[in-house]
Amino acid sequence: MVDRQKALLMVLLALLIYPNDIFGGAFQPEFSGPITNLTVPLGRDATFTCLVKHLGGYRVGWVKADTKAIQAIHDHVITHNKRVTVSHSDHSMWNLHIKGVQKEDGGLYMCQINTDPMKSQTGMLSIVVPPDFDPDATSSDMMVGEGGQVKLTCRARGVPEPRVSWRREDGRNIIIREPFAGSAPNQKSHVSSVTEFLGEELKLTKISRNEMGVYLCIASNGVPPAVSKRIYINVHFPPVIHVPNQLVGAPLGTDVVLECFVEASPMSINYWVKDPKGAMIITSVRYDVQAVPKSPFEVRMILTIRNLQKHDVGTYKCAAKNSLGEVESNIRLYEISGPTKTQTWPPFYDEEDEVVYGSAEVDKADNRPPTDNTVYGRVGPLVTPSSAIRIGKKRPMINANSAADAHRRWLPVVLSPLVSLTIVCRRWWWW
Ligand SMILES: *[C@@H]1O[C@H](CO)[C@@H](O)[C@H](O)[C@H]1NC(C)=O
Repeated sequence: MVDRQKALLMVLLALLIYPNDIFGGAFQPEFSGPITNLTVPLGRDATFTCLVKHLGGYRVGWVKADTKAIQAIHDHVITHNKRVTVSHSDHSMWNLHIKGVQKEDGGLYMCQINTDPMKSQTGMLSIVVPPDFDPDATSSDMMVGEGGQVKLTCRARGVPEPRVSWRREDGRNIIIREPFAGSAPNQKSHVSSVTEFLGEELKLTKISRNEMGVYLCIASNGVPPAVSKRIYINVHFPPVIHVPNQLVGAPLGTDVVLECFVEASPMSINYWVKDPKGAMIITSVRYDVQAVPKSPFEVRMILTIRNLQKHDVGTYKCAAKNSLGEVESNIRLYEISGPTKTQTWPPFYDEEDEVVYGSAEVDKADNRPPTDNTVYGRVGPLVTPSSAIRIGKKRPMINANSAADAHRRWLPVVLSPLVSLTIVCRRWWWW
């Protein structure tokens, strides 16, 4: 090995010492352009090109400047690095190829012509590495009680050094409250709200439910692809109920909507009960129970009581329960006299007692004809099966004509068994 290297070095020296200008003619060789500097991501291929004119009988060599390691002379590769090859076209374009560049390949490369004195020019090979997270020093999803604090960490490697920043996935601002507990005392407290936070560590203090969600840590260094990691911060707190209308009045026979807004994390179990029995209300012909999510921790509870009856009047409770606690809130439902109030329905403020009339928004498009009021309270048993489900919303008009219609509808139903009976009798008769 060493002998071979020595031999090659002597060949190179011989070439440099005894320039072959007998064939060169009148012109001395020279470079016809600079070497382009290269910036190559780790693992990709790199090619330096050395442009030469009037080379004549001289030779072109490649040397790595920092280690003085000879890479190639003319069309012979000298280095033991198997990833290095050379090529040329005519005698004017001399290429040095490095396959799958490694960190140690980075540095200055020199293209030499063995004139006397030697001519050379250099090109820089910069190896870059796209950013990557250090999994051991990067946070995963977190759980924190409301008012507590969390420290999120994201460490990224790469060349050049990556820039690490934080954002919220939903686009809301990050709230930075200083000082972070455990940091230097007598520091002035300070709150700032930013769309982006720079740094490997994100410290959140006195965290509120509104700061719950996905935080993105993004690392970039100009070498694609940039990388990001999603970290979910789950903020826990016991349920809270907000009731927009605690007193709801509605006429008998109408549909009434009661609603409660619940905030809880983890998600609470939500239910309605009616005093004094305390049985949980579930969806049935008389009730419709719904829960509409408003945000990851907010739910709108909606109880619809269909075709309000005297016995429905009373106190309703919406209740919410999670691992951290439970809470309930009351809504009082009372009867108001229908016909007079329906004139000014939908919701309005009663001058006498400042009560907000119903969240009974079901009836808000209520331009009910006056005759409609006459069927209140007796629609139940008389309606046809198909409309029974919509009692209170669109009341069928029950009058003499519709009763006659009902008879006409029933007639074929009654007749058809008679017809079949007749057929059976006839068959029996024939036999
Ligand atoms: C290549 O980079 C070096 C520094 O690294 C600089 O001095 C030189 O001018 C660059 N050459 C070209 C052709 O841009």
